[in-house]
Order: sequence, then structure tokens, then C-alpha cells
Amino acid sequence: MDLILKGGMIVTSKESFVADIRVLGEKISEIGRNLDETGAFIIDISGNYVFPGFIDSHTHFDLDTGTTKTADDFMTGTKAAIAGGTTTILDFATQNKGETLSEALNQWHKKARGVSSCDYGFHMAITDWNNAVSEEMDKMKEEGITSYKLYMAYESLRVTDGEIYQVLKRMNEIGGLIGMHCENGDMVKERTQELKAEGKLTPAAHPLSRPPIVEAEAVNRYISLAYLTKTPVNIVHLSTKEGYYEALKGRARGQKIYIETCPQYLLLDDCCYEKADFEGAKYVFSPPARKQEDIDCLWKALSEDNIDTIGTDHCSFNFKGQKELGRQDFSMIPNGIPGVEHRAALLYTYGVLNNRITVEQMCKLLSENTSKLFGLYPKKGCLQVGSDADIVVWNPNYEGTILAAHQMQNVDYTPYEGMPVKGRAERVFLRGNEVVYQGRVIKEKTGMYLPRTESVYI
Ligand code: URP
Ligand code: ZN
Ligand code: ZN
Repeated sequence: MDLILKGGMIVTSKESFVADIRVLGEKISEIGRNLDETGAFIIDISGNYVFPGFIDSHTHFDLDTGTTKTADDFMTGTKAAIAGGTTTILDFATQNKGETLSEALNQWHKKARGVSSCDYGFHMAITDWNNAVSEEMDKMKEEGITSYKLYMAYESLRVTDGEIYQVLKRMNEIGGLIGMHCENGDMVKERTQELKAEGKLTPAAHPLSRPPIVEAEAVNRYISLAYLTKTPVNIVHLSTKEGYYEALKGRARGQKIYIETCPQYLLLDDCCYEKADFEGAKYVFSPPARKQEDIDCLWKALSEDNIDTIGTDHCSFNFKGQKELGRQDFSMIPNGIPGVEHRAALLYTYGVLNNRITVEQMCKLLSENTSKLFGLYPKKGCLQVGSDADIVVWNPNYEGTILAAHQMQNVDYTPYEGMPVKGRAERVFLRGNEVVYQGRVIKEKTGMYLPRTESVYI
């Protein structure tokens, strides 16, 4: 039977308008006013916004860091995602040293298959570059992996500038996008050692170990390498105004540079590290939370369409037992925070309702741009005839407060504890099936793997 979602305010990247959406099977089959209702199941959604299912292109579920494992796996993380209106996530399959890319990919398939509540794909994080890995990138493309992540920091993950140059060249040959973790690993290492030698061991030392120049220098270096290889690039979790200005310089000389930021860089500032009783550990993520001037700069960049996507970098660790690993030494605190569940509510409340961005920009940042850049468009990320019926019925009148006690994320805190939010994903449809009703997940584990095509360079 067809389903008609009737009378909602449909949001696209360009405009919003009242219309009905017909869903046939897993797809959107018609959009318009006064659709023929004969034999259809009708749901009146007037008074709500209708967004294309949100895409979070930056999650780390079921990740073993070497000292501990993320609190959320694919089962809990994707359930939390869908509760917040995110119908697709892209996680990072991460190559261990000595491993092939296929081995890493197989592991991530095992983690996600059969337990995911939203559709999912993988970027590939290369940590051990060699000729065989280079050749394997063709196979990865056949397997639907068209984007990569490289790290300029973290001893076990980082690659050299020469390796970055080579991966960029290879990316140019086969098409796709490399997201870079832009922090100068040596600067971080040296400063961490200095801080520890000075007896600065609490979470307050975390932002001191990676000041803004650590990011800005790395952005500059990354885009310089990309300039030489003429490769479009993506900068993930951008946090500073200095880093942003470096990216703008690259754009000014004609480079295609995409930028992702995350809610934590828009809503949290570095005062969080001063909290007593080791509470600052709850905010240890990298790059760290910054100053109000950085926050203001990023919001302005969003309003001017100069930032392309907002992911969460969801990488959750419990405060008890996991963040506590660094009680005596801040550098042992596992890096990362939860956020996959609350991204849309935060962006709507603090972005749209504060007149920093429009609902159409929210649609671009959470859905459309992401689907284009990561080879999912127009299957995902838009409300169009023929697209997957991934639909978020967004209730703008809901009022609530973010509380760890109420969250779906499998972690014992949220960095957004106590923050009021307005609006929620009232109903969510994943490929035509209702998976969230009245803000509660009613259907689990129906997520499918998404092989992806090449990026559309917006
Ligand atoms: O602190 C963070 N961001 N942890 C996750 C890994 C990464 O760098 O994205
Ligand atoms: Zn990163
Ligand atoms: Zn990340």
C-alpha cells in the first residue's frame, strides 16, 4: 500500500514548501499538493517540517583504541542516531599496521552487519601506506568505498607528508575524497611531554597540548600538498578560526576545499576543561574545544555557506572506568565524545532558532551536501521522486532538555547535559519503514550497507 505523508513543510536545500509525499515501497514516488489518496494510508503531518533523513559522515562505533573500546557499538550507536533523525552514518574502517584494506573493511562489515538501525557506509582510514595498499584502492572502489581518512596526529595512526602526497595523487586517479585529521602530531607530542614534565597532568592541560596553531599549520600543510597534486580535499572536525582562514586562502587560489565542523566546536568552549573533580575529562576530544571567537567564526562561516557539512565525530567513552584511565595523566584520557543522537536538535535550536542558519541550510549541512560529497546523491540526502524514502518529520514545537539519563547513546554522560532543545525527530522513516514514532525508536536493526559512488564535487 502507498503511504502519503500529508501537508508537511518540505525542506530542501533551496526552499521550503507545503506538499504531500507519496511513499511506494522503499522510495519516494510522488511529491505534490492534493495527491490522489485512493487506497493510500494517510498520515497528516501538517505543522511539521519534513527533512531528508540526516546523514552523519563522522562516527566511530566499536572502535578499539588500544587501551579501551568505544562505549557505543553499531547496535547502540545507530539506534541513538536514528532516534535523532539520522538515517545514514558513515563510520571509519581503520587499517591496523600490517593489515590490508580488505581486512579492515571485513572487520567493519562484521561489526555493523545485522545490528545497525540506520543505513551505513565506511570511509577507509589508511595508517600503513605501501604499494599494495595503493593498488587495493581500486578494489575498495568496487566495494563502494570512495572516501578515506588520514591522520596527521596520533602516533599509531599518523602518516607522513610524503605518504599524504602519494595518497592524494592516487585519489586523483580514481576519484573520491580524503578527510584529514589536521593536527601537527609532533607539536602535540612535544607539548604533551613539556606539560607533563611541568606537572600539568589534569584535563586543563589538554587544550594547551594542541593550541590553534597546531590545527592551522596542519591545514596549511594538507592543502599545500593538495595544491601540488590538484586534488579536492576535505578537512574534518575544523575547530579554529586560524584553521578556517588557512582553508579560505586555499579556496582563494582556486582549490576545492571542503570543511566539516561538529556541534562541539559550535557549542562548547574551553572553560569546560577547568571543571572540578576531573569532570573536564568529559570534554577531552581532539581537536579540543576552543574560544568564543572561534565559535563565532564557525557560526559565521556556516551562515555564509563556507562550511559544507556538520558531522558529530561521535566517539564515546564512559566517564567511569574509561575517561578515568587518565586521572593521573591527561594524555591517557581516551579522546572523543558522544553526539550522534543530538546533532539535529542542537543545530535546529542553536542554529536555526537563533537565526544563525536557515532550515534550508540545515538541510544542506546535515543531508544534501553530505550525500553529494560522499557519493550517495540522489539516493540519500534529498526529498526527490526516486530517492530512498528516508524522511524525518520534525516537530518544531517539542521542547526538552538533553540529559544523559534519557539518552539512547550507550554512555554515562553527555557533554550537552542540561542544555534545552527545541524540536525533535517526531517520526522517522528509513526506506519507507517507520522506525521512530513520537521520538521513540519502534523498529531496530533494519539498516543496510551502502556502497557508494564517486563524490560529486559541489
Ligand atoms: O577526539 C576524537 N576526535 N576522537 C575520535 C578520533 C578522531 O580524531 O576523529
Ligand atoms: Zn580526527
Ligand atoms: Zn573522528
